[in-house]
Amino acid sequence: MNVADGKKIVTYSRDETFQFGFDLASGLKSRAIIALIGPLGAGKTTLAQGLGAGLGITEPITSPAFNYLLEYSGRMPFYHADLYRIENASQFLALGFDEYFDREGVFVIEWAERIADILPPETIQIYLRPLRDEDAREIIVCKGAPRIDD
Ligand SMILES: Nc1ncnc2c1ncn2[C@@H]1O[C@H](COP(=O)(O)OP(=O)(O)O)[C@@H](O)[C@H]1O
Ligand SMILES: [Mg+2]
Repeated sequence: MNVADGKKIVTYSRDETFQFGFDLASGLKSRAIIALIGPLGAGKTTLAQGLGAGLGITEPITSPAFNYLLEYSGRMPFYHADLYRIENASQFLALGFDEYFDREGVFVIEWAERIADILPPETIQIYLRPLRDEDAREIIVCKGAPRIDD
């Protein structure tokens, strides 16, 4: 994983965020956990779609907001979760999703702040934030303990 801790970039279009995800895939080893943290419309699904494409997944990657978690197979397995409808870590655990932390492949979690207290320490956290310009998004990559203050 060649993402420096605290790396910060700004993207100016959907395609740039997709490309950011695509590029991220090349540096990932199996058993990577990626927490995507940011409000609705920040670009979490877009980044996850780029990441999936970078992992060689050719089928469409849709938002798992209604299914909680979707599985794909590419260069390695890809698991894409959306926890918007999950309130806390105990609901996540009740669904057995913590099992995916130990799976081979890449596990990407939208709304990961909902389970901040149980994210494994090796989780790569990616914070996305819309900026004043309608199509601009700030993206910050962090490793280590979650910094969740909202
Ligand atoms: N720089 C950008 N990065 C990502 N998405 C952008 C950007 N600029 C505009 N958009 C638009 O914002 C929306 C992001 O949606 P999505 O990726 O589903 O967000 P989330 O999963 O965080 O709710 C899309 O409609 C996309 O076209
Ligand atoms: Mg989404």
